[in-house]
Amino acid sequence: MKNFIDISDLSSRDLRFIIDEAKSRKEKRKNLNKSSPDDDKPFFGKSMAMIFEKPSTRTRMSFDIAIKQLGGSTITLNPDGIHYGKGDETLKDTAKVLTEYVDIVMLRTASHKNLQEFGKYLNIPIINGLSDLSHPCQVMSDILTFEEIKGSIKNSVISWLGDGNNNMSNSLIEAAGKFGFKLNIGCPKKYAPSTKILNWAKKNNVNLTITKDPKEAVKNSDCVMTDKWVSMNDKVNKKIKKKNLKNYQVNKKLMQFAKPKAIFMHCLPVGRGEEVTDDVIDGPQSVVWLQALNRVHAQKSIINWCLN
Ligand code: CP
Ligand code: NVA
Repeated sequence: MKNFIDISDLSSRDLRFIIDEAKSRKEKRKNLNKSSPDDDKPFFGKSMAMIFEKPSTRTRMSFDIAIKQLGGSTITLNPDGIHYGKGDETLKDTAKVLTEYVDIVMLRTASHKNLQEFGKYLNIPIINGLSDLSHPCQVMSDILTFEEIKGSIKNSVISWLGDGNNNMSNSLIEAAGKFGFKLNIGCPKKYAPSTKILNWAKKNNVNLTITKDPKEAVKNSDCVMTDKWVSMNDKVNKKIKKKNLKNYQVNKKLMQFAKPKAIFMHCLPVGRGEEVTDDVIDGPQSVVWLQALNRVHAQKSIINWCLN
C-alpha cells in the first residue's frame, strides 16, 4: 500500500516525481476553469473520504478541488457525525468499512498515531492532511511553489523562524534531507526541534543549522518561512510562548538580512502582527496565495502517486 504519511517515508526519487508531475499537470491545464477535470481524468469514477478532527480551510478546499480536477469525487466526514473509535466502533472497523466504499482516505488528526492505526487496517491508501507531528502535503506544495518562482530547490537556503518544534518544521527538516537544500532554523532553545527529528537529520546528513539568532538564520536566505507561534494542537500557555518568540517575528528589518530576491512563505492561517508583519505578508516578496493554490496541484500528484 502506498500511503503518504511522512516525507521521510518516501525516496527522493518518488518525491521528485511528485513535484515534477504536479508542475506538468498544472501547466497542461492552465486554460481550464478551476474545477474542470484534466483531459485524462485519471480519478474518474473514484472517490476520496476526508476526515477532519481539526478545523481546516485550505486542506479541505484544495483536496476537494484536486479530486474534481482528477475527475473524481469526495465525501467529507466529521468525526462527531460518524462512528469513529469512540467506544461504539473501533478505528479498525471504521477503516475496514471505508475500504469498501472509497478508493483513498485523507485524515487530519490531532494524533499521529491515528494515521498509523487507520493506515494499518485500511486496504486503500491514506494521506496525512496534517497531524500534531507533520504536515507533509503543505511542505510538498511549498517546494512546488519555491521551484515555480526560483528554480531547483537543491542547494538553496531556506530559513525557518519561530517555533522550531511543530508539524511544519518537522516536515521541512525531512524535506531538506530528501531534496538537498540547506535549512536554517532560528528559534529559542526551548522551541528547538525534538531529539527524534534531530537524530533523523543527523542520520540522513541534513544540512541543518539551528541558531538562537534570527539574523543569522535569515542570512543569505532564498526563502524565509514562518508559522503560527501557537499551533492547533499546542497546549501551552499562549501568552508566555508568544512573548518568548517575539524576537523571531519576520518583519521588513529581518527580511533585509536575506538575499534581496528572497521570497516569504507562510502556510496560513497567519497571526498577523505576531509571527509576521502585514508589510511582509502583503508585500512584494510574499508568495502565500500561490502557496495556497499550489496545495491543489501538489496534492493531485500525491493522490496519483498513492494510487499508481
Ligand atoms: N495550511 C493549512 O493546512 O491550512 P488549513 O488549516 O486551512 O487546512
Ligand atoms: N502548525 C500549524 C499549521 C497549520 C496549517 C498548526 O498545526 O496549527
